[in-house]
Amino acid sequence: MLAIETSCDETAAAVVDRDFRLLSNIVHSQVEHEAFGGVVPEVAARRHLELLPGIVRKALDSANVEPRSVAVTIGPGLIGSLLVGVGFAKAYALSKGIPVFGIHHISGHLHAILLEDPQWSPPFLALTVSGGHTELVMVEAPGAYRSIARTRDDAAGEAFDKAAKMLGLGIPGGPKLSKLAESAGSERIRLSGALMSDQADFSFSGLKTALRRNLHQDKAVLAASFEDAIVESLCQKTDKALAGVSKLVLTGGVAANQKLRKAMKAVADDNRVRFAVPSAELCTDNAAMIGAAALAYPREPLDPAASPRALLELF
Ligand code: KG4
Ligand code: ZN
Repeated sequence: MLAIETSCDETAAAVVDRDFRLLSNIVHSQVEHEAFGGVVPEVAARRHLELLPGIVRKALDSANVEPRSVAVTIGPGLIGSLLVGVGFAKAYALSKGIPVFGIHHISGHLHAILLEDPQWSPPFLALTVSGGHTELVMVEAPGAYRSIARTRDDAAGEAFDKAAKMLGLGIPGGPKLSKLAESAGSERIRLSGALMSDQADFSFSGLKTALRRNLHQDKAVLAASFEDAIVESLCQKTDKALAGVSKLVLTGGVAANQKLRKAMKAVADDNRVRFAVPSAELCTDNAAMIGAAALAYPREPLDPAASPRALLELF
């Protein structure tokens, strides 16, 4: 299966076989947005248009197989960027006479683990932490999801990105803030941001305000304090949701964070729950996870006669 992902600023294509073996996985992160301090939708869409054919060519050449189906992200994401991927996927599938499957981006994150542990199966609890989403989801059966908690305001990755901006770091904010935090030593500032309230849902906007009030303090210490507070909040709420659960998966771009991976493993161990987290390259946006989601269980292909816009309106 050829898989395509263009929902934000990564132009990505991969080839995955039915046993979830990764035959190729090409991810191009657009750097043009750095000058603007954030992703510019119009620039992203134009770059996808320029880059995608070459990225797909590379993925196909390196896998050296003829795909029998196509999977593509149909949302959520930047509309112009999604249109480029969906239009390309449909045209490719039509020209080859093969089916094309439309995949929800978060379903991709939820199934990335299959590329490293093909036996991983529901029921399991998943914490998805990305730039646009922070959600605890119970995957009861293939394709059957129950939302347990989500963020009331910013997503965890968005909080990292906004904090990095305040600290004068570039994009992507998460990894840069995390790097700065490494130089902090053990000193921490208590960022009282209403993180530890009793509500089940996540909330990160108070933490952002707390950071702004403390900007005169040492930047590395601030970065470490902010990172710790986010990790603590994610772990605390996941811990509460683990009652009666036997498996936990951590996924999404923020799951590339080393402190979070370590802390969440400890939470799972304390609860005697089996824990899995994809390697960092499969946590951040990629097309392989879109292929994995499409292969996870049978689904209806998209109607190639429907306009890409109509397909996107499914979301
Ligand atoms: O899943 P993803 O690649 O794209 C979306 O679907 O949003 O997630 C991107 C987010 C960004 O906010 C980025 O700052 C964050 O993941 N991120 C990290 C790390 N690597 C990526 N946050 C904290 N620590 C990291 N190491
Ligand atoms: Zn994502």
